[in-house]
Amino acid sequence: MILSFMPQPLKNAVYIIGAGPGDPELLTLKAYRILTRADVILYADSLVPKQMLRDVRADAELIPTGNKTLEEILPLMSDRVRRGCSVVRLHSGDLSLYSAIQEQIQGLIAEDIPFELIPGISAYQAAAAKLGTELTIPGLVQTIILTRISGSASAVPEAEELASLAAHQASLCLYLAARHVENVQDKLLQYYSTDTPVAICFRIGWPDEKIWLVPLEKMAATSRENDLIRTTMYLISPALQECKDARSRLYHPEHSHLFRK
Ligand SMILES: C[S@@+](CC[C@H](N)C(=O)[O-])C[C@H]1O[C@@H](n2cnc3c(N)ncnc32)[C@H](O)[C@@H]1O
Repeated sequence: MILSFMPQPLKNAVYIIGAGPGDPELLTLKAYRILTRADVILYADSLVPKQMLRDVRADAELIPTGNKTLEEILPLMSDRVRRGCSVVRLHSGDLSLYSAIQEQIQGLIAEDIPFELIPGISAYQAAAAKLGTELTIPGLVQTIILTRISGSASAVPEAEELASLAAHQASLCLYLAARHVENVQDKLLQYYSTDTPVAICFRIGWPDEKIWLVPLEKMAATSRENDLIRTTMYLISPALQECKDARSRLYHPEHSHLFRK
């Protein structure tokens, strides 16, 4: 069952919420409303900073899940729902990528527990905003690819191999890649030029956020010099170069459309 808009979070239900990359002000209004009224909050503490919980109820039960398996998390959620609580399951960024929610959803359906998904802002969107840029520049690049590197927990299918995606020379947003950055740089250099701008974005929205803007040939060295292993995303994009003259036709006086003849 999918829940519709409610002024209070429902008791006996789970709200799976995308918390955004770290800045609590990037929570959606809906996420904030439910989070601050929930009885129980299970949160992925490795990627959700404590500041995200600053406005929750003083008597809310807070359960960090970084040290728990799915087999421990699901019974916790169903137990609290059966006790009549409103339950929040808080993940970083947006739920639609790399959030391991699919297996939780299957578990909730199997237990006949009502749930709702509330989207969040993904790390790449927050990074682009911090860089003050659009990732689709007319005449330069019109496609954004979101991808990752295979890790011990999840393998990327062969058809989505990084070098084959790099061949598009699109704006490439690379998650979960810092541990493999030398290999990544080699693969990207097969198609992007050595001076393609790369933004190395560490803990966007966290109090210790840092961003380095470097040419592609310095991507690996800069990551290693700064000991970047976790919570780092890479934006590789021609759009990060200076694009002073770029202009879309949308607001051009010589361009008319349905709403502006
Ligand atoms: C398990 S994935 C979760 C992604 C998340 N669902 C999203 O939409 O942003 C974790 C990876 O996302 C990226 N990431 C998440 N939050 C970040 C942040 N605040 N700053 C930089 N990268 C972040 C990093 O690549 C990190 O290794």
